[in-house]
Amino acid sequence: MAVPTDPGNGNGWGFYGRREEFSRLCRLLSVKHYRTLAVLGGRGVGKTELIRRACDAVGELKPAVYVEVPVPASESHEDRMWAVGRVCRDLARQAEELGLGDALSEAERFPFDLLYFDRAFKGLLGAGAVVVLDEYQNGDKIGLTGSVKPVIDSFRYIGAPATAGKTVLAGSHQQEMIRILEDQRLPLYGRVDHYMRLGPLPAPAVLRMASEQGWLSRPKRFLTAYTVFGGNPRLWRRMSEENAEEPLPEPPDGDDDAWRMGFLEREISRMRGDPRERFDFRSLVTLDSDARKAAELVARHFRGVREEKVRGLFTGKNREDAEGRCISALNTLKWHLHMVEQTPSAKPYGPSKIRMKDTQTLFQLRVASLWPEAGVGGSAAGKAMGAMANAEGYALERLAGEWLVGFRTFSEMEIGMVRKGPDGKTVETDVVAVTHDKDGVVQELALCSCKRDPGRHDLKRTAGDFRRFVEYSEAHGMPVPVRPRWLLVSPERPAASGDFRAYGLKDMARKLKLEIRPWPGLPAPGPEIEFDDGPSPGL
Ligand SMILES: Nc1ncnc2c1ncn2[C@@H]1O[C@H](COP(=O)(O)OP(=O)(O)O)[C@@H](O)[C@H]1O
Ligand SMILES: [Mg+2]
Repeated sequence: MAVPTDPGNGNGWGFYGRREEFSRLCRLLSVKHYRTLAVLGGRGVGKTELIRRACDAVGELKPAVYVEVPVPASESHEDRMWAVGRVCRDLARQAEELGLGDALSEAERFPFDLLYFDRAFKGLLGAGAVVVLDEYQNGDKIGLTGSVKPVIDSFRYIGAPATAGKTVLAGSHQQEMIRILEDQRLPLYGRVDHYMRLGPLPAPAVLRMASEQGWLSRPKRFLTAYTVFGGNPRLWRRMSEENAEEPLPEPPDGDDDAWRMGFLEREISRMRGDPRERFDFRSLVTLDSDARKAAELVARHFRGVREEKVRGLFTGKNREDAEGRCISALNTLKWHLHMVEQTPSAKPYGPSKIRMKDTQTLFQLRVASLWPEAGVGGSAAGKAMGAMANAEGYALERLAGEWLVGFRTFSEMEIGMVRKGPDGKTVETDVVAVTHDKDGVVQELALCSCKRDPGRHDLKRTAGDFRRFVEYSEAHGMPVPVRPRWLLVSPERPAASGDFRAYGLKDMARKLKLEIRPWPGLPAPGPEIEFDDGPSPGL
């Protein structure tokens, strides 16, 4: 059987993005020899969904047993053993269902305890099954590592049958998982053969989801929700389901701004009521003070902050010491928690910037850093409303930039890029997307102006800014040998003329060949005006 590459899509709620991750996971699960895989990422990014779909897809080749390790009610021995019992029962039931009962013959001499787990885990891997231990930070707490380590070692080092299964360890508590797997002093260090880290869904996948679910038919509302949810599929799905059961009241004249207030009130009261609803809340509170300091600085700057400014936060015994602390804080945020990303410092970009990886994290750190201390209910939503103008502006830029990279395969994008002219004047461009060769010579360039209110685009001024951007670049030895594309972006398509191409969010979706469904519960809108693609092919 060939290794599957398409996870398929049912009706209703689909499976969005993650095509590459899906293929990679299927491939890793289907290789002949034993492997230990780790899937990490914050709550709700889609670890479990991805693993389950991949396991289903390779099921004919490799049967999979999936266990989500429960949280023990307390640290007490009894509660931990209760959780072990649950894991064992799950393993036993699924093994029977898959016709792998024989693999449990060694285990069956024991009650559902750690010894049972040990023999069952070993037996199932030996029988060629994929054993998924999800939420493994709990597994470590209840003592599974005592078996997982020696069993993995026996398969990795002592030679296993070529038909051996695979172990998949996944977990939402990223810091715990990283400690368990990457701390040299702990038993599982060095046992993982392949890591998969899931971040937020990229913009094209979010646009696909939003078109299918109808959210995109009201672009301003979509932008509000995107600002708060970013690329977190769990939150979007929750909104879809909620909408089916108890939609937000529809403002009398369909007013998007009034809808926004209701939406924010609901989201904020939920986040205040349940700490797990705040993105990686547990990560944030357990972050060491260096990483937290850096995260908060980055979150204060919607469009990202210069690396040297982050560096400036750190002091130490000497320069190397401060430098070391900065690098370690950024590594925690970048590699481990997926909270920030760094734009390249190579030409034609200029200095590298650190920015929040998605709008959800940014929104929660910035706008909703109001809780739980800040006022109650309405007043927090009021404050959030005030900050929304900025936050949504940034979300729009981010979306446009990610869309350009995803759709046009520009190699990089930058938000809020400042260029200084020879005369000391500066010009700032909302989004710059570029493709360049290895010498930094620009092959393709898109300059984009984003405004939340389509009426606020000033074509004359923007044209001047774009021209100066190119002029200043050339003055700094960064020639732009191609004719740049000029883009205007707003939630609803703005008016454009001349060299400008105008895009609304629906146009972006159409460029991805997506069909836009009507807002859930509302009648379909009238026919859309045909979109004039203009002379430039593609964009
Ligand atoms: N790529 C995706 N496309 C659509 N829905 C997804 C995707 N990934 C996850 N979901 C949905 O989001 C929710 C959370 O996903 P889940 O896999 O449970 O997250 P995690 O295990 O990372 O906490 C689930 O309801 C799931 O169906
Ligand atoms: Mg999960």
